Amino acid sequence: MCMKAKLEAIQAAALEALQDVKTADVLESLRIEYFGRRGKLTEVMKGMGQVSKEERPIIGKLANEVRATLTEAFEETKNALESLQQEQQLNAEAVDITLPGRKPAYGKAHPVMQTLERIDTIFTQMGYQVVTGPEVETEHYNFDALNTPSNHPARDLHDTFYLTDGHLLRTHTSPVQIRAMENQKPPLRIIVPGKAYRVDYDVSHTPMFHQVEGLLVDRHVTFSELKGVLVSFARQMFGDQTQMRFRPHFFPFTEPSAEVDISCTVCRGKGCRTCGHTGWIEILGAGAVDPEVFRAVNYDPEEVTGFAFGMGVERIANLQFRIPDIRTFYENDLRFLHQF
Ligand code: PHE
Repeated sequence: MCMKAKLEAIQAAALEALQDVKTADVLESLRIEYFGRRGKLTEVMKGMGQVSKEERPIIGKLANEVRATLTEAFEETKNALESLQQEQQLNAEAVDITLPGRKPAYGKAHPVMQTLERIDTIFTQMGYQVVTGPEVETEHYNFDALNTPSNHPARDLHDTFYLTDGHLLRTHTSPVQIRAMENQKPPLRIIVPGKAYRVDYDVSHTPMFHQVEGLLVDRHVTFSELKGVLVSFARQMFGDQTQMRFRPHFFPFTEPSAEVDISCTVCRGKGCRTCGHTGWIEILGAGAVDPEVFRAVNYDPEEVTGFAFGMGVERIANLQFRIPDIRTFYENDLRFLHQF
């Protein structure tokens, strides 16, 4: 075959082969087949020496044309493959923006925390400062400094979780009264939200529970101011209709002391199952600070007086959300918790 025919055959074959190329790999092997060191086109170019002098310029020109045509055809095929691949990738990664979105699952505060925050807000709006203290306490802060002698029933092993070295899990938030008064001079107006622990478990008790303690100390503080503060709190918490009742009681650290009831939030005092048909529900303990407590922190009981109160947060959350069994708060059943 003459040179011219060879070149034309190579060009035709290469162009036809390019038609069927579907991948970059095949294209590359085709490129090697024609342009490689042993490639078909290369071999022909090497044979240029045999061409006669007269023919050489014509064949040379043709060879260059074939080379240029094929180079361009390879380039075009390469570009076509690349844009095809890009298109396929874009299709594969396409996002349907008309699909409905997935709702993120929002967490929210535990119902007991919601109640606790509400209590905090009511008292901070009345000018109380929020103070906290340790849950692992000493007998001194939990009992002695609160005028609770070692033979008092509250010290019974049955109620208290004792730890080693005279430590215990605080049975109430009252020890923070002592810590606050040790740290600050009067006047003092604080609330103490936090956890307390007692060996107890039934429909109205869990071993860990929450309290909010209140303490106000100043000159000439009277019991009627305590009543005013608590009535104001109860009406903000449970509504304007709420009635309040003080029953004489005993606490080692207050004198006089009272247990404080509100009119039943369910039957409004008529009597129902929630209030045990009494019309009243106990929500807190309170009293005038005992002079012995002031002496324990070097406050002068002749100079200052004060009142203190302590309320159970679960009990108040119970009333707020109408939960019959306090223990459900801590079973962590999401179906229950999601309702709040
Ligand atoms: N600490 C008492 C209790 O846990 C409540 C209380 C606090 C009573 C402050 C009077 C004054 O039962």
